[in-house]
Amino acid sequence: MTASTADDPLFAPLQAGELKLPNRIVLAPLTRSRAAQPGNVPTTLNAEYYAQRAGAGLVISEATNISEVAMGYALTPGIFTDEQIAGWRLVTEAVHAAGGQMVLQLWHCGRMSHEALHPGTPNMAPSAVHCDGCQVFYVDDAGQGGLRPVSPPKAMTKADIDATIQDYVTATRNAMAAGFDGVEVHSANGYLLHEFLASNTNQRTDAYGGGIVNRVRFLFEVMDAVLGEVPAGRVGIRVSPLFTLNGIDDANPAETYGYVAEHLSRRGIAYLHVADTDVMRGAEPQMEQMLSFTRGKFDGVVMLNGAYTPERAREALRNNDGDCVAFGRLYLANPDLPARIRQGGPYNAPNPATFYGGGAEGYTDYPTLE
Ligand SMILES: Cc1cc2nc3c(=O)[nH]c(=O)nc-3n(C[C@H](O)[C@H](O)[C@H](O)COP(=O)(O)O)c2cc1C
Repeated sequence: MTASTADDPLFAPLQAGELKLPNRIVLAPLTRSRAAQPGNVPTTLNAEYYAQRAGAGLVISEATNISEVAMGYALTPGIFTDEQIAGWRLVTEAVHAAGGQMVLQLWHCGRMSHEALHPGTPNMAPSAVHCDGCQVFYVDDAGQGGLRPVSPPKAMTKADIDATIQDYVTATRNAMAAGFDGVEVHSANGYLLHEFLASNTNQRTDAYGGGIVNRVRFLFEVMDAVLGEVPAGRVGIRVSPLFTLNGIDDANPAETYGYVAEHLSRRGIAYLHVADTDVMRGAEPQMEQMLSFTRGKFDGVVMLNGAYTPERAREALRNNDGDCVAFGRLYLANPDLPARIRQGGPYNAPNPATFYGGGAEGYTDYPTLE
C-alpha cells in the first residue's frame, strides 16, 4: 500500500534549533565498531554506510570518543587526532553529497572501560564505584578481542574534571572542522556524564556530588563549554532517564531529569533526545513515564527513541509526545527507511551477529527496495 505522505506526521518538516529536518525520521546513534586500526579512524566504508542512510531528517553518528581515556570499547572511532578528523570528513562529505545532515555524538565512557584501552591511565568516574558484572570489549595483551569485566575506576580530581571539559571543547571543535552540522552530547546509557547524574554512581562530597544542583554541575559545565564552540541551535543532548543497565540506579530520575530538561531548555539547545534504551534487553517501553517529567520542562524539540515502529512513531507525533523519532535497529537494517515507511514496508530484519565489528557484511549490504 502506498500511503500519502501529506498527512503523515513523520514526513512533516521540522526546525530543530538551526537544523532544518526535511522529515522526522532520525538515524539513532549506533556503535558499529568498524573504525580502521590502528588509530580508530573512520573510513570510506563508514562513509558509505552513513551516506546510505542520508535520507533521514537527521543522521546521528555512532558514539565517538573525545579522548583516549574516554574510550571504553575497541574499534570505536575517536575525534581527537588529525587522522580521525580527516576520516570523519570523508563521512560528512558523503552524507552532505547525498543530501543529508549529520551531527556527531560526543562520548566519554567513564567507568565503562578497561585500562588496556588507555594504558597507564585508570578509568575516570565521579567516584571510585566499580561496576560489578559490567563488561566492555577490548583486545588483551595476547591480541585476543573479547567482552571482559571493566577495570576499577578512579574518582576524578578537580584537575581531571577541568581536563575532561577541555577534551569536550577540543572534540567539539574537531567535529565542526570535520564538517558536522552539530553535535549531540551523550549523557545516557551509564557512561561518564550519566554517572555524574545518577545518585548511586556519584558519591562525591564536593561541589560535583550530593544534591541535584551538584550532580548536574559537571554536565552543565560540559554543555556550556560545548556551547562556547557551536551555536546552541546545533547542539543536542541524549539522556536515558530510566536506564538500569551498566549498573545505573538513580534514586529520583524524575527530579534529576526534570531539572536537566528545564535548565537545558533555558540554554536554547536544538533538541532533547529521550532514549528508552532498556528496550534493547527486551524491557517494556517506559517512554510515557520519562516524558511525564521531561516533556513539559523542555521548550525545544524533543526526540523520542526506543522500540518505535513507524506506526507507534506516528501515533506519538500525533499525540504530541515528541517532535521526531530516532530509529535504531530498524534503520540499521533498512538504509532507505524513509522510503520504506512512505510505502508501508516491507522491512529487512536486523542481524545482531553483525552489529559490532567486521566489514561490509551486515553493515553496507542491507538491500534497498530497488
Ligand atoms: C548496535 C547498537 C549500537 C548502539 N550504539 C549506541 C551509541 O553509540 N550511542 C547511543 O547513544 N546509543 C546506542 N545504541 C542505542 C540505540 O541508539 C537505541 O537507543 C536502541 O537501539 C533502541 O532503539 P531502537 O529500538 O529503535 O533500536 C545502540 C544500539 C544498538 C542496537
